[in-house]
Amino acid sequence: MDHKIIVAGIGPGHPDYVLPAALRAIRGAKVLVGGSRALSDFAVEGQRTMTIRGDIPSVLSFIGDALSESDVVVMVSGDPGYYSLLDALRRTFDENLLAVIPGISSVQFAFARLALPWHDASLLSFHGRRPSDEELSYAPGRVLGMLTDGQNSSRTIPKLLMEKGWPGDTKAAICARLSYEDERVVRTTLAGAVSEKEETQCVLVVMG
Ligand SMILES: C[S@@+](CC[C@H](N)C(=O)[O-])C[C@H]1O[C@@H](n2cnc3c(N)ncnc32)[C@H](O)[C@@H]1O
Repeated sequence: MDHKIIVAGIGPGHPDYVLPAALRAIRGAKVLVGGSRALSDFAVEGQRTMTIRGDIPSVLSFIGDALSESDVVVMVSGDPGYYSLLDALRRTFDENLLAVIPGISSVQFAFARLALPWHDASLLSFHGRRPSDEELSYAPGRVLGMLTDGQNSSRTIPKLLMEKGWPGDTKAAICARLSYEDERVVRTTLAGAVSEKEETQCVLVVMG
């Protein structure tokens, strides 16, 4: 029988927010792949591990080699279906080899912290990409939930939205380190976000 690649979402970070099914798969893994923080939080004695750094081709080739011996469990942050290694895994391996265990996305968690429904929100990612002008357009009542990165941060995105016509007094929330002890959720406005501490790994929610 073919071995499987089990892609387990580990939620926003704190172990309290990992599904028991994901924890079971992670703890039972012979081969475990994940970021350094995830490996230090979740790996158990005796597992063969590979740390995901920038070099994705090496990670994919490690997984391909390890698959001949056993299942491989790959931990990804948040939910695997929302901007994760799952895309690259689907491009590299037959989809029948993939099994996905969902996780709580950082976006979902941010909306929960704000007690705000996300069914009408537009979810966008600035993580290594840039949404189109149309996706960023302003309309009263429009809600955006956005992933950030080192280049597109809690300071640069509000500036960009104001250039695109969003009013400076639009409510905004900077949600960083979600689920961790030092979680930081700052409720401000687009104009105010520009002078708040800059967060590069956060979920930025704006409420037009
Ligand atoms: C590669 S994306 C992964 C998204 C992930 N699959 C998800 O569903 O949340 C990484 C981005 O997710 C966001 N993120 C992940 N964990 C977070 C956390 N604990 N607090 C705030 N933002 C987080 C940040 O915007 C970060 O730059």
